[in-house]
Amino acid sequence: METDLHEDCEKLLFSAEEIASGTRSVAALLDEAYRGTTPVAVCVLKGAVFFFCDLLRAMRTPAEIEFLRASSYRRGATSGTLCVDDALSFEPRGRDILLVEDIVDSGKTLRSLKASLLERGAKSVKTVTLLDKPSARKVSFEVDYKVFDVGAGFVVGYGMDYAEKYRKLPYIALLKPAMYGG
Ligand code: PRP
Repeated sequence: METDLHEDCEKLLFSAEEIASGTRSVAALLDEAYRGTTPVAVCVLKGAVFFFCDLLRAMRTPAEIEFLRASSYRRGATSGTLCVDDALSFEPRGRDILLVEDIVDSGKTLRSLKASLLERGAKSVKTVTLLDKPSARKVSFEVDYKVFDVGAGFVVGYGMDYAEKYRKLPYIALLKPAMYGG
């Protein structure tokens, strides 16, 4: 199906069909990894919301689902101070936890969340992301599972925003630099 690109976007990166197919492939790998266990899948709000729902429905593993909020105060495309709401609504002690993200950029969010869950006694913490942007790393962090790699540029859609816009686009696209002063 042809994608009708939003006028603020410069280029389509991944169509809804490509996202769905990549998500199914990663779901199969996760089913393999979690065979015989009941992990807690944690959606890192807000950006991961659509990926989380599609990934979990594509998995056969009987995972529990939980949500937590992490956000960095950003000015334009620059990642700032990380703010993690660590008032968890579940007990991580002794559990196998799967952290689900939309994008790994500097690596600070997942690195910090993973460390915090392990500190609270989680049995294991694995990470999965829809997009990985290795060129943007500021701390050393390697994600366990990913759907796609992306290069430079501001990415929006399928949960990802710029100033809270574009999250509900069904595809992933590069935002025009003029839209964020890039
Ligand atoms: C984005 C994304 C990740 C984080 C990744 O969240 O959803 O949580 O940034 O960046 P990092 O690797 O540099 O830490 P954001 O802070 O934009 O909040 P949002 O999910 O509510 O959009």
